[in-house]
Amino acid sequence: MQVTGGRFENKVVIVTGAAGDIGRETTRRFAAEGATVAAVDSDADRVRALAAGLRKDGLQVIALRADVSREEDVERYVEMTCTEFGGVDILFNNAGVEGEAGDISECDLADFDRVMGVNVRGVLLGMKYVVPVMRARGGGAIVNTASVAGLSGASLISSYCASKHAVIGLTRSVAMQQGPNNIRVNAVCPAAMTGRMMTSIENKMSPGDADTVRDAVLGTIPMGRYARPGDVASMVTHLCSDEASFLNGGAYPVDGGATA
Ligand SMILES: NC(=O)c1ccc[n+]([C@@H]2O[C@H](COP(=O)([O-])OP(=O)(O)OC[C@H]3O[C@@H](n4cnc5c(N)ncnc54)[C@H](O)[C@@H]3O)[C@@H](O)[C@H]2O)c1
Repeated sequence: MQVTGGRFENKVVIVTGAAGDIGRETTRRFAAEGATVAAVDSDADRVRALAAGLRKDGLQVIALRADVSREEDVERYVEMTCTEFGGVDILFNNAGVEGEAGDISECDLADFDRVMGVNVRGVLLGMKYVVPVMRARGGGAIVNTASVAGLSGASLISSYCASKHAVIGLTRSVAMQQGPNNIRVNAVCPAAMTGRMMTSIENKMSPGDADTVRDAVLGTIPMGRYARPGDVASMVTHLCSDEASFLNGGAYPVDGGATA
């Protein structure tokens, strides 16, 4: 299954949230195009199962358990990747949680803190620890997962929306800061995607009537369907490839025209 001469041959890649819908597909794509991948997730069983399955296909993937919102965990996943593979070329900073949905007057601050902890602090920490390693290697590429909810408002999921706006702010700032070091930083902004997270959001927004939410969201997407994990993986791998060598500080929608 592994392609020699693939776009990521001899590259070391870290994917966080690797056991989720976007993470699994992206980990598989990077590895199938020649990368050695450290697959990071807080769900140890699912990330180990992913890595074991991909290794059976002849791909080079190790599983690392980490909570991206904890500084010591992030320091450790970067260190372990360097010990195992000698450095890091690419970070896909993708772990995220959706949090609760509802009226702002009912916002649970513990939930807000959890969403910001994973989606914002996790992304910041990933960059904090990987940038020095990339600098020592002469450069690198980072993609942070934002959302169309990082580009415009999202009624009822305000904490999530705030976190994704913050991801874009971090992306732009670190892109400006690290461009001179040949480290490119971009954000990917998927629309609603088929998978666990949107099913959860639909049910939280309208318990017992998820189809109504789904129809309303579909009405905002000119192409008339949800994104698929492969749509997002295609953008992420492109942004991390040499073909994207002058793309830095962008926030790229993968949204079927929703933000057009
Ligand atoms: N699904 C969508 O519709 C959609 C749309 C736009 C953006 N996104 C973003 O894409 C990213 C991936 O989402 P997904 O759809 O694959 O969701 P998912 O729930 O399938 O995957 C998320 C993964 O992150 C892991 N994770 C959660 N908290 C963690 C933590 N503290 N430390 C380490 N890992 C943790 C989970 O175990 C899970 O495997 C998220 O940042 C999400 O906000 C998703």
